[in-house]
Amino acid sequence: MFPDKSAIRSKDSTMSLLDAARAVRENAYVPYSRFKVGAAIRSSSGQIYVGCNVENVAYPEGTCAEAGAIAAMVASGETELIEVCVIADSPHPVTPCGGCRQKLAEFGRGDVPVRLATVDGPETLMTIAELLPGAFDQTHMERA
Ligand code: THU
Repeated sequence: MFPDKSAIRSKDSTMSLLDAARAVRENAYVPYSRFKVGAAIRSSSGQIYVGCNVENVAYPEGTCAEAGAIAAMVASGETELIEVCVIADSPHPVTPCGGCRQKLAEFGRGDVPVRLATVDGPETLMTIAELLPGAFDQTHMERA
């Protein structure tokens, strides 16, 4: 039996993106960095998908919270995100790593808002285009 899609879409659309990111952050598997990150994305259908960082003893095999949320969205059959929130316990709002910026750009337009939050308050609001100016995209391959 395959699980119902609702098992993958772990939060319903009435929950705020920040609440969803804060909640999933608690599940982060971070025995090496001890740095928990939670991410929540809203898809074009309004559904919320969440992810947390999952580390590995072979350090490069770890995955970021944003990557987990994107994977959950795609696994559920959706490919467009319209809003993003990332939260961590850091002195200033954590920004997605370079790889995750490219992953966000794959599924979201440049004007998609990315809310960068901290557990104790300070926040920054950016767009995907601000996070990844001059992004490599399909237009670069038009002559291929
Ligand atoms: N990390 C994320 O999950 N998302 C970010 O935006 C920044 C960094 C994770 C990766 C690793 O598990 C830990 O934070 C420390 O780099």
